[in-house]
Amino acid sequence: MPDSVITEQLAINKDRLSRHMKQLSEYGRLGETGVCRPTLSPVEKEAFGKVAEWMEEAGMTVRLDNFGNLIGRKDGKDPDAPVVMTGSHIDSQPAGGRFDGTVGVLSSIEAVHTMSEKGIIPDRPIEVVSFCDEEGWRFGKGLFGSRGITGNLEAGELDRKDADGITRRQALREFGCDPDKIPESRFSPESIHSFLELHIEQGPLLEKADQPAGIVTGIAGPIWLTVKVKGFAGHAGTVPMAMRQDALVGASEMIVAFHEIVKEDPEGTTVGTVGELNVSGASRNVIPEEVAFTIDLRDIDLDRRNRCEELLRESFQRIAEKYHLKVDITEDQNTKPSYCSPWIQDIIDSESQALGLNAPTMMSGAFHDALVMSSLCDYGMIFVRCREGISHNPKEYASDDDLAVGAELLYRTLLRLAGDS
Ligand code: GLV
Ligand code: MN
Ligand code: MN
Repeated sequence: MPDSVITEQLAINKDRLSRHMKQLSEYGRLGETGVCRPTLSPVEKEAFGKVAEWMEEAGMTVRLDNFGNLIGRKDGKDPDAPVVMTGSHIDSQPAGGRFDGTVGVLSSIEAVHTMSEKGIIPDRPIEVVSFCDEEGWRFGKGLFGSRGITGNLEAGELDRKDADGITRRQALREFGCDPDKIPESRFSPESIHSFLELHIEQGPLLEKADQPAGIVTGIAGPIWLTVKVKGFAGHAGTVPMAMRQDALVGASEMIVAFHEIVKEDPEGTTVGTVGELNVSGASRNVIPEEVAFTIDLRDIDLDRRNRCEELLRESFQRIAEKYHLKVDITEDQNTKPSYCSPWIQDIIDSESQALGLNAPTMMSGAFHDALVMSSLCDYGMIFVRCREGISHNPKEYASDDDLAVGAELLYRTLLRLAGDS
């Protein structure tokens, strides 16, 4: 069925959703189409204010929890029933796009707004959440809000600092949260029924399949490491090559070795990235003494990811010895992959067929708050097509029509999850 036919049978309000998408993209706008909306920043706080307004207009009561999550609640017929949660995040990459995360939050609000306009009171309560710090670059560890409510924070997390030396604890306080009371904001497994997230695909498969929406089967789990390589500084003009302990030469060889290890199995689903590299006290005529770089390693297959990690650790050690360097590896984040709940995939599938879609199934290489929510409840994810699969880039784009189809699918799936007896 052509997409135009689908958009004619929408219950959700496509114009309202498009308007909200456009309005929110002004908060932290970067150039023509990009967004820079760091977590727990003044601009995210302003954007939260706008999102909270839209939650209230949609018939929800709104709260900011102590993890920095913004949550809107629509009561169900049974106020004590476990909650159906839906949402995503509105923090962005430093030079990000305006769709990553935002589409999930605004589509969820749109779905609840539609229910309220139709006078639908679901059996279970629905909570729409905009999670705190999904992206993770500011404090070097992401998925903070979802890890918080599910009880997955680690010791010392609130003391992590951003590039300006501000701790997460300080940033939370300035944002209006009380980090000393975070246990009060946790969910128990009994308090939550299920979680549903809509997100842009951030990959090219839906475009190739010529479909506006897809059903996620599982999410690859990332491990984030920081590698510190230590050598000895010296004069670039006087130290003979054979006597050098050049940390940057060692780090460069490690980065290439890592790339080769990850791509060893061309059929494999492992991906690895070095996204940050820092040479301390860099000067063109000083032999680099200290270099730090990051590792992002992911797979849906945990055994394969673990094997890659073992290989990279061995290889880095060998390279360090070769150049008379020291290497130190610390783990910043370690989230296991997970598969979406089959019964929720089935609901998304039947609702997409009812809409005349032929939504393909696919794995998510990007991580999402849904991955963390899987530690507490059943969950599902809907993907929406984005142009050329471009994401984490100001060029990210998804059409209003595709977003409306995705939001409609979310609305229908939510009704099934929350119950409409
Ligand atoms: C989240 O944005 C990720 O890096 O997958
Ligand atoms: Mn995202
Ligand atoms: Mn992202």
